[in-house]
This record gives sequence, C-alpha cells and structure tokens, in this order.
Amino acid sequence: MENIEIKRMTAEDLEGVFEVEKTAFPIPWPISSFEEELRNILATYLIAKQGDKIVGYIGLWFIMDECHITNVAVHADYRKQKIATKLVKEMLKLCKEHFTTYVTLEVRKNNIPAQCLYKKFGFKEEAIRKEYYKNPDNTREDAIIMSLEL
Ligand SMILES: CC(C)(COP(=O)(O)OP(=O)(O)OC[C@H]1O[C@@H](n2cnc3c(N)ncnc32)[C@H](O)[C@@H]1OP(=O)(O)O)[C@@H](O)C(=O)NCCC(=O)NCCS
Repeated sequence: MENIEIKRMTAEDLEGVFEVEKTAFPIPWPISSFEEELRNILATYLIAKQGDKIVGYIGLWFIMDECHITNVAVHADYRKQKIATKLVKEMLKLCKEHFTTYVTLEVRKNNIPAQCLYKKFGFKEEAIRKEYYKNPDNTREDAIIMSLEL
C-alpha cells in the first residue's frame, strides 16, 4: 500500500486508534486504556496513517533489553496490504535504538493471520498460556507465547 506513514501515537490519535481497535477485536480495549498507555513511560505506540485516517497501530513496552508487543491491529477494511508489516518493521528499528535483544508477545491460539505475520519475521512459538484470553461468550482461549531473539 502506498502513502502509509508511521508515527508515534499522541492524544489526538486516540479516537482513530479506537476505531481500528473496534474492527479488530471481539473485546476491544476501551479508549481509556490507550489514554493510560500515553502516560506509561515504558510504552510506545505507533500508528499507521493514510492521509488523515488511522488504519493501524502497534503497541510496545520496552523493559530493559526486552520489547513486549501489547497489540497490533489493522482496520478491517485495510488488511492484506502490508500495513502490519510496516508497523513491525518500524518496531524492529526502535528495538535497535533501545538495544533490545528479545521481543515477545501473546497471540490467540486460533489467530492464524497474526501467527503467520509474526512467523514471517522469525518469531518462534515458545509456550502456551492456558485459557489466557476471554471470549465474548465467557469461554476462554489459550495464548501462544511467541518470541524473537535479536
Ligand atoms: C494480524 C493483522 C494485524 C495483519 O495485518 P495486515 O496489515 O493485514 O498484514 P500484512 O498485510 O502486513 O500481512 C503480513 C503477513 O501476515 C500474514 N497474514 C496476514 N493476513 C493473513 C490472513 N488472513 N491469513 C493468513 N496469513 C495472514 C501473512 O503471512 C502476510 O504475509 P503475505 O502477505 O506475504 O502472505 C490483521 O489481520 C489484524 O488486525 N487482525 C485483527 C487483530 C489481531 O488479531 N491482532 C494481532 C493480535 S496478537
């Protein structure tokens, strides 16, 4: 996809990020969670913009030499156009700046698109967190912990 800009999330972006979030997850984070992340000194959130429209985001926590991906999401109408790929590439640039040696994340066991995305960048499955995620119908789903050594 052409003309995608990657920028740091600011307070002005919260509504747009929340719009992406609602298209991406069965139980979206409330806007207040993104607001809190702006105050979290460990957190860096990047947004993908096409013109004025926010079409994706990635959330990162940098802790010592580790990076934890809290979330990645692309608006449902803009998927399969390499926007997540751009966000992950930008994350890897930031990892260099932070001297990160290890990147980790949790992903739903049934979320094959996200697992394929991470595997493309060399992430490996490390462990299972049993019943980590809640579903809207109150059932639970396992998380796969994936990691990448840099
Ligand atoms: C996962 C997600 C972020 C991918 O975003 P995207 O911008 O569509 O991804 P890209 O176009 O950059 O695709 C990169 C790679 O991801 C994988 N991928 C993306 N969509 C896929 C799909 N529907 N099925 C299988 N693999 C897929 C492929 O390996 C793809 O590489 P390819 O195009 O060479 O095949 C997007 O589907 C999304 O927002 N899903 C809902 C939220 C979510 O599950 N987030 C992850 C939480 S851990």
